[in-house]
Amino acid sequence: MDILTQDSTQFNDAPIGVFDSGFGGLTVAREIMRALPRESIVYVGDTKRCPYGPRDLAEVNGFVRQIGSWLVERGVKMVVIACNTATAAGLADAQRVLPVPVIGVVEPGARAAAMVTRNRKVGVIATKGTVESNAYSQAIRRIDAGITVFSTATPRFVEIAELGIRMDEGPIEGFWSEMSKVYIRPEFEEIARDYLEPLRRCGVDTLVLGCTHFPLLKALIGGVVGREVTLISSAQEVARDVTEILGRRGALASEDATVRHEFFTTGADVEEFRAFGSRVLSMDMERVAHLDLPELV
Ligand code: DGL
Repeated sequence: MDILTQDSTQFNDAPIGVFDSGFGGLTVAREIMRALPRESIVYVGDTKRCPYGPRDLAEVNGFVRQIGSWLVERGVKMVVIACNTATAAGLADAQRVLPVPVIGVVEPGARAAAMVTRNRKVGVIATKGTVESNAYSQAIRRIDAGITVFSTATPRFVEIAELGIRMDEGPIEGFWSEMSKVYIRPEFEEIARDYLEPLRRCGVDTLVLGCTHFPLLKALIGGVVGREVTLISSAQEVARDVTEILGRRGALASEDATVRHEFFTTGADVEEFRAFGSRVLSMDMERVAHLDLPELV
């Protein structure tokens, strides 16, 4: 269709579906809320089956299909897979089977890294599943085949991110800043050095935080790799993509849309999800409920 003949005056007040294996995707939901304050979000954290990282990609693909279909049944106008592992495992399949636009977090992060690197040496840290899928190297090198990508699985960073959250009471906002202290502990720094020193020795000038948990560890990771290495998290890039896709389709929420965010966790502890999620989002999660998804055979 000719883009000029599209009716750009249409609005669509349906919510945007966002999901992750747990709370990491809330870092993405938060950026979407900031960029598009009139949009409503239905968020699913698959806490019961978290972590996705060590699982077989075919199994995670099944989770993506299941949650994506549930979101579509709930009436979302778009699905954002706010988990790198789930994106690597199931984005293509979800795009084929779901009747709404589906985006993931790998391509936006890859694009930002390819734009930022000056020496064309990019590091990627992610879960085992994401690294083994090669999704980042392929996405980065599709944009610039001259870039060398060095990828490392850093599964203990997921553990550390969760641990730090439980050790500290303060707002999560603090974790994002250089002043974050909770993760700057000798035992965490040692793990971070073990993971990151080899990448530093490879001379990367850009490091992709290829897991939605890792923005919480920016201070720890940045402290080890040094200021000369630019850290990339895809959350803002994803929010920009959502804005562009909905904008071009004339599907942004209307000015008088009622904003209503709903959060679902597959885990048993709804109150913990609410308490933690509210800190990540810097807002009260008013509507939180348990979501019972049938076991996949
Ligand atoms: N949030 C997931 C990701 O971005 C990591 C956590 C997990 O292993 O489930 O890959």
